[in-house]
Amino acid sequence: MSTGTRGSLVPALESGAMSRIAFPKAFRWGCATAAYQIEGGVHEGGRGESIWDRFSHTQGKIRTGETGDIACDSYHRFPDDVALLREMGCNSYRFSISWPRIQPDGKGRPNREGIAYYERLVDALLAAGIRPLPTLYHWDLPQALEDRGGWPARDTAHRFAEYAQQIVRSLGDRVRDWMIFNEPGIFTFFGYGIGIHAPGIANRQAMLRATHVVNLAQGEAFRAMREESGEFRIGSAFSFQAMEPASDSSVDADAAERMHAWTNEWFLRPTLRGAYPENAFEAGVPEALDIREGDLERIQVPLDLIGVNLYSRGLVRAASNDPWGWGARVLGMGGSTGPKTDFGWEVWPDSLHDLLLRLSADYDAPAFEITENGCSYADAPGADGKIADLRRIAFFRGYLSALHRAIEAGVDVRGYHAWTLLDNFEWAEGTGQRFGLAFTDFTSRDRTLKQSGHWFAHVIAQNGFDPDSEADQA
Ligand code: FCB
Repeated sequence: MSTGTRGSLVPALESGAMSRIAFPKAFRWGCATAAYQIEGGVHEGGRGESIWDRFSHTQGKIRTGETGDIACDSYHRFPDDVALLREMGCNSYRFSISWPRIQPDGKGRPNREGIAYYERLVDALLAAGIRPLPTLYHWDLPQALEDRGGWPARDTAHRFAEYAQQIVRSLGDRVRDWMIFNEPGIFTFFGYGIGIHAPGIANRQAMLRATHVVNLAQGEAFRAMREESGEFRIGSAFSFQAMEPASDSSVDADAAERMHAWTNEWFLRPTLRGAYPENAFEAGVPEALDIREGDLERIQVPLDLIGVNLYSRGLVRAASNDPWGWGARVLGMGGSTGPKTDFGWEVWPDSLHDLLLRLSADYDAPAFEITENGCSYADAPGADGKIADLRRIAFFRGYLSALHRAIEAGVDVRGYHAWTLLDNFEWAEGTGQRFGLAFTDFTSRDRTLKQSGHWFAHVIAQNGFDPDSEADQA
């Protein structure tokens, strides 16, 4: 190494300038939650029944036998949630609005008490200097609408657009940024395809129809919201995984491309480009979708923000007889090679980097926000009452570094939301999987920041971290 090089490198390393991970100015830092997972209060404020109430009260559907009747009791304790966000210095909070609080029967005028709850929450956030980022649908369809056909029924798209308009009319004087859906791919596949989530239907035809109706609903909702104000910034949060072939063979490479289409583009491509991904079209799929004249034009809308929910990667092998007609199989826990969280999900930070680069290149560099990213580890309070969840800190360090590399490579990412603020009702797992930056005691409902929550606060305060510094390890 020449003296000249040493002269320029060493001081930089010593001051940390070479290795520091710094996020863009005005970057948003926040946490995400979902109504059914935290609110409880299911019989309060005139709320109607949702498909998740019905599902969780059905014997055998939730691994722990629990329901979301109380969950984290955020319906009453939301000030505690806002206090946690403040303690960490978050400037964004992604929460969801429970449709059956607003329209208990899935139609008609908004329920005043339901609206009032979200006004109180939004006002508390604004008073704390935190941007509210509501998601209109995080999986709790009014049961009355399921009884009329649910997401496979086209009428649900109109009902959803009506609900969306009511929400923005009610809260639009104080909320500017919105997410329409949470993970259309997951709730249609789990809810109507394999039936392990509400409403518990396992039918490929119903699932395919549901995907198309959800796409229509998103387009209609976007337009209804846009009509209310040109100032709104409207996005949707999609579930993504970077798909990688499990071997060097070209058949696995093709299979990975098909899984990319089904998993990452089934909702995104019609929305941004007005077309379904072609390589996902197997015999019978277009008919099953029931695409009618004008549908694709109604679906296509210029979302202002693409919400990225990403946890892991997908390692893909070709498969000739999979029941879905994908010609591919994503290897589960046994096949993947990285470390696993307590849920068995592979920790693979590069997935976030790779996926963002690909979407940015394929879709003309849209604006992204990371709307969910996190991990489940069961760490509980030690004798000193502290929760030393060091694996969660390692997870966030890895994914945030990968995110930073994507931003350095030119991807336009405006914010990051950790999943999740506090341990909650994790759908079919009940409270058995803990994803929180805060520990929830499900007897007292008290919340305590874990070590990862304190670490996150430190990152937010510095708008980044130093990967080489001991102080930034935990
Ligand atoms: C996502 C969901 C979220 C939570 C996390 C762990 O798929 O959007 O509600 O369940 O997974």
